[in-house]
Amino acid sequence: MPFYSDDVIEEVRSRNDIVDVISQYVRLQKKGASYFGLCPFHNEKTGSFSVSPGKQMYYCFGCGAGGNVFTFLMNYENYSFSEAMEALAARAGVDLPKQDVTGEARREADRRNLLFEINREAARYFYALLRSDKGKRALEYFKGRGLSAETMQKFGLGYSDKFSDDLYRYLRSKGYEDDLLKDSGLIAIDERRGGHDKFWNRAMFPIMDANSKVIAFGGRVMGDGEPKYLNSPETAIFNKSRTLYGLHLARRTRRPQFILCEGYMDVISLHQAGFDNAVASLGTALTEGHANMIKRYGKDVCLSYDSDGAGVKAALRAIPILKEAGITCRVVNMEPYKDPDEFIKALGSEAYQKRLDQAENSFLFTIRILEQDYDMNDPESKTAFFHEVAGRILAFPEELERNNYIEAVTARYQIGFEQLRQMVNRKGVQGGLVSGAKKPLRSGVQKKRTKEDGLMQSQRLMLTWLVEHPGLYRSLKGHISPEDFTEGIYAKVAGELFAQLEEGGELNPAKISSGFSDEEEQRQVAEIFNANVQGMEDTPADLAKAVRETLIRIRQESMEQKRKRLDPADTEGLAQWIKDRQSLQELEKLHISLDQG
Ligand code: UTP
Ligand code: MN
Repeated sequence: MPFYSDDVIEEVRSRNDIVDVISQYVRLQKKGASYFGLCPFHNEKTGSFSVSPGKQMYYCFGCGAGGNVFTFLMNYENYSFSEAMEALAARAGVDLPKQDVTGEARREADRRNLLFEINREAARYFYALLRSDKGKRALEYFKGRGLSAETMQKFGLGYSDKFSDDLYRYLRSKGYEDDLLKDSGLIAIDERRGGHDKFWNRAMFPIMDANSKVIAFGGRVMGDGEPKYLNSPETAIFNKSRTLYGLHLARRTRRPQFILCEGYMDVISLHQAGFDNAVASLGTALTEGHANMIKRYGKDVCLSYDSDGAGVKAALRAIPILKEAGITCRVVNMEPYKDPDEFIKALGSEAYQKRLDQAENSFLFTIRILEQDYDMNDPESKTAFFHEVAGRILAFPEELERNNYIEAVTARYQIGFEQLRQMVNRKGVQGGLVSGAKKPLRSGVQKKRTKEDGLMQSQRLMLTWLVEHPGLYRSLKGHISPEDFTEGIYAKVAGELFAQLEEGGELNPAKISSGFSDEEEQRQVAEIFNANVQGMEDTPADLAKAVRETLIRIRQESMEQKRKRLDPADTEGLAQWIKDRQSLQELEKLHISLDQG
């Protein structure tokens, strides 16, 4: 939520060139007027991600991610708007005015910052305690689990004391008030007995966000006891379904995938064994939020959940979520060990690497588990199994892919390729699927594409053209107005663009996008200014023709919508409408020129 004035936002934005900033994260190559690279927000092999120095915006033609330099940091670094502002202001050496904020927003941001501070203080406190006399037993515990001093340091491991209020007293001594402490997730305030700690006498695991800020803790009993792990509750800075343990380290990995596991100790053991790409969703089921975060780092996934029933169930739930996010996922077999931690302790990192290399395709994993529900010695049950498999193969949109899976299943089970293929095809015909159906676009994009009609595309094209060839405005002026842009935020975007065009001077589309506070709206602005104009403007004559036709289409539609809104009793309005409608014909002859002058 922006609480800086538009001027300050604009100053910070204009002093951070988007190509420079994004180059720190994505390798970009110049192609024509734009830079291209591999999109950091979805997994791709070809570079659909474009950054335009002229527009100071980015846009991915593959997944539709887009925005300005602020949105980029918000998405990539998981920053809030103010955090992105602060980072970019620091980068450009702009002093952010303190008074330049509304009270409410500033209090909100201050409070978040204080919660970060409290968690950091607590982490330091636990960390020091582990290395003091009082922490001996906990230190032994960690050592007993095979952790080196370096690993303990890297993960900031600590110890919470036996007293039930010593962290509370420590934090009070640092000046934090009860009202704030009760929201930190670390302290409970009881009216009569005062404050007491959530964690005591536990081995402590700080949980960091992607930027290495401590946001929560997990605490393990040393030995047996219930619950085995105690975790911070969700707070203003800790959202479980958007947190992956170990991400602050794994995000720097050079490996093409993340190893996704279940627990604290799994992540730590894997990192210690050299797998710097391990993360965990910490006991909670994997969510769409997690999947989107993984996708943002452009990684595939090796699922390394526990090999027990609960772990398998969790894997079966995670696979479709990852797939939906466009992430390729394979499943690591850790038998006969329970989890990566135990596996590595028993067999070492080379053996684990082998298991990674042999990780099973997630579809084949799914049907292997499915098979356990069927009696493969019973012909009827076996047939039912193959029907189920055929149904699932049908879900793959591409024929080639379906054939590959049919082949893989054929190789594993006693069934002929043709036999299974016919089964799949018959199901397809029954379900009304034409064979060789077109591969739909990635989820998300797909939904948008089917909803969007030609009209939106026309309106986007027009706005993109006006940005890329501002000279057009002279020809179009008077023939089109912001109200003709009927879709969602388009009218507002057009209004601001037209105002800039009217003023003359340099266009500033990125400023228009930072005028929207909602991230999705900022993305849409990037989309609007990045309509795909390929092939329409090979020559100035082609462009003029395309602009004229698009103009007419937009005007026709907006006239149509106007008519629907007209009160039938409003004869004057109707007469005006008919006049306007007739004037549309003159647009056929409108001379469109690109010249600025
Ligand atoms: P596990 O019980 O598999 O933990 O739970 P683990 O990591 O193997 O634990 P160790 O090796 O015995 O120390 C997996 C994860 O589920 C969450 C924790 O995040 C844990 O790492 N969990 C588990 C809890 O939050 N509370 C619990 O009581 C148990
Ligand atoms: Mn374990």
